[in-house]
Amino acid sequence: MKNRTDKDTAVADFHAVKHIAFIMDGNGRWAQRRLLPRSAGHIQGLKTFTEIVKYCFEKRIANVTVYAFSTENWNRSEEEVGALMELLERNIDENADELVEKDVRIIFLGDKSALAPKLADKMRDIEKRSENNRAILNVAVNYGGRDEIVHAVNSLIKDGRMSVSADDISSRLYTSASPDPDLIIRTAGEQRLSNFLLWQAAYSEFYYSDKLWPDFTPSDVDKAIDDFMTRHRKYGGY
Ligand code: IPE
Ligand code: IPE
Ligand code: MG
Repeated sequence: MKNRTDKDTAVADFHAVKHIAFIMDGNGRWAQRRLLPRSAGHIQGLKTFTEIVKYCFEKRIANVTVYAFSTENWNRSEEEVGALMELLERNIDENADELVEKDVRIIFLGDKSALAPKLADKMRDIEKRSENNRAILNVAVNYGGRDEIVHAVNSLIKDGRMSVSADDISSRLYTSASPDPDLIIRTAGEQRLSNFLLWQAAYSEFYYSDKLWPDFTPSDVDKAIDDFMTRHRKYGGY
């Protein structure tokens, strides 16, 4: 057998991660430190999102999930919510086609009914156009883990189910097209889930970075995966 090179090892490491998820946190602090409005942090954060997502797919990670807007983020000022929604739309306009061409299926996790109809229509359109693609990008918008479980159970009740199994619930989650995340990365030094993937994170590994999301780079993804490779996942065994 030929000797394994460093390059082979790197590819092998990335293959161990079938699903990586990001809690993109720290945009506001990034802007505040520069005395800029919070929206400037979100603009910079969108650039990071584009770069990191591209990198993950180049490394052949099959499922990538990002937390873009939570069910609790409506509590922010009207101005900030407006800026975030505008950026989301701009992101779809500017980045979606390229991702779809690169065989990425885009799925929006969360309740679209509270979003502006024009934005919700764009989301549905891109989901439909990319539905047969191989890799998956889940973008969580108006997403909450509790809301997702309630939605899943209600959809089972609607089908007339009197009792449900864990597999039934998993199959009705917004993320049903992806396996549970292997690795969840949160930036900006906060060590909490903030209502992200509550059900799916049962056996995920967590990685926290002190870097603010706009400062996060592909080499930080490498670092997180190197760390992940040292973990011993036991799933309740030994
Ligand atoms: C993450 O950055 C983006 C969203 C939650 C939409 P924040 O806006 O939460 O940044 P901080 O936590 O205030 O620094
Ligand atoms: C979580 O970040 C939501 C997103 C990254 C979209 P928050 O900044 O909203 O979470 P908390 O308020 O610090 O828990
Ligand atoms: Mg935050």
